[in-house]
Amino acid sequence: MAKDPGRVLIFDTTLRDGEQSPGASLNLEEKLAIAHQLARLGVDVIEAGFPFASQGDFSAVQRIAEQVGGEEGPIICGLARASQGDIKTCFEAISPAPRRRIHTFIATSDIHLEHKLRKSRAEVLAIVPEMVAYARSLVDDVEFSCEDAARSDPEFLYEVIELAVASGAGTINIPDTVGYITPSEFGELINGINKNVPNIDDAVLSVHGHNDLGLAVANFLEAVKNGARQLECTINGIGERAGNAALEELVMALHVRRSYFNKFFGRDFESPTPLTAVRTEEITKTSRLVSNLTGMVVQPNKAIVGTNAFAHESGIHQDGVLKNRLTYEIIDARTVGLSDNRISLGKLSGRSAVRARFEELGYDLNRDDLNEAFARFKDLADRKRDITDRDLEAIVSEQVQQPDARFVLRLVQVSCGNTLRPTATITLSNQEGQEETTSAVGTGPVDAVCRALDSLAGEPNELIEFSVKSVTEGIDAMGEVTIRLRRDGKLYSGHSADTDVVVAAAQAYINALNRLVSSAGNASLHPQRDVVKVEHSPTL
Ligand code: KIV
Ligand code: ZN
Repeated sequence: MAKDPGRVLIFDTTLRDGEQSPGASLNLEEKLAIAHQLARLGVDVIEAGFPFASQGDFSAVQRIAEQVGGEEGPIICGLARASQGDIKTCFEAISPAPRRRIHTFIATSDIHLEHKLRKSRAEVLAIVPEMVAYARSLVDDVEFSCEDAARSDPEFLYEVIELAVASGAGTINIPDTVGYITPSEFGELINGINKNVPNIDDAVLSVHGHNDLGLAVANFLEAVKNGARQLECTINGIGERAGNAALEELVMALHVRRSYFNKFFGRDFESPTPLTAVRTEEITKTSRLVSNLTGMVVQPNKAIVGTNAFAHESGIHQDGVLKNRLTYEIIDARTVGLSDNRISLGKLSGRSAVRARFEELGYDLNRDDLNEAFARFKDLADRKRDITDRDLEAIVSEQVQQPDARFVLRLVQVSCGNTLRPTATITLSNQEGQEETTSAVGTGPVDAVCRALDSLAGEPNELIEFSVKSVTEGIDAMGEVTIRLRRDGKLYSGHSADTDVVVAAAQAYINALNRLVSSAGNASLHPQRDVVKVEHSPTL
């Protein structure tokens, strides 16, 4: 690819770096659902995972490569440490995609070399060309990252990058792995690379960054001004620690402030041509899907996708917005797909109307999934007068959490009140269909439900987060519950929505427990913290 594609390429790493957030692990169906939505959103590259991590990660990347990658679709990318085993496994996983990329990396900062890799600079300079060339022998599209680039000696960085480009890397990625750099420093670093790496014109410059100081998006925008043309980001900014640069913030900054950024692309100030290929109207839906499936709740005041991002509470603001939106609003909510809730369906709506609405929302359900979704819709319509798009989204996200279900919730019954001891009766069935019932008393109805579920499931854990919010407005609105459980230091989340929050809590708890059970014993490697064991570089 040419150095400057003339616009910004969006490389989404929600399914790789985003999924590295504690408790955000996703099952295969959930990853597929997110990957399909990312394709609808129009990202250029989907980093689908780290295939060497485990059989589960490998299968997820492979399925995404089979089903989401296409001639016109996004590039499907897999991450690999700079080792032959990782790269080969990554290649096998991404193989089914017509447009595929291997992303390989090694750390370049002295602190990582000394304490993590225990390698000298000379050793790194030998590994990089060997591994990039190996990856290039398998695929045409190779990306190379210098992990912890922001804390690396720039002179050493230039040497590493030159070797990576000479060995066939078409994209060079500069990560701020620990979220340490500031915007002007990042701009200077990108400028320095452009000026000091002789063959840099043969590669696209990319940036990747974490948000430990809340500067990731600002850093990236400065990098764009200095020639970076690929941005690695995640939906809702999820990721390790404080997360990654948020896709929606980057895309909307480049959209809303296009006339400011145009000059850095050699365009006229007024040029209306978008700076990214993202369909901004898909942003809200993508954000909700990722939040529901990862259990990572979006803070209400989060830019672009927080529930308050377009709400005008104060009287003065409301008055101003009513007179002229531009007084207090820089983005029309419809640009990010936040329409006024369309009240479209109800109790009498038939299967074809429901299917058509799901299709309009971008969910192309197969026969079995549609049957299940329609049954859930009917059940909801018996309890709720108007079914909105948000309700339909909640139904779909509920469904993709189910396939590996070890425990299925059959009955939840609660009695509580000011003079009663909250008591829950629960029936669960296992994969063989055997049912078991028990009752428990708790400090409140949800506590009673959790105690009963724990005694039936027999899977010790600690409940560390319980949050409820309403999907839509109105007395009959569905309540969304997100639950996070901890066992052996690992987090597992579950999410569910129902018009009855106690039922939603029970189902969310079961979803989290199912996740806990299915990942128990599935050791998975961490691409950055687990160092490659086998020596592969030539003897130095
Ligand atoms: O933060 C980081 O450095 C990474 C690399 C593996 C690209 O995630
Ligand atoms: Zn990262």
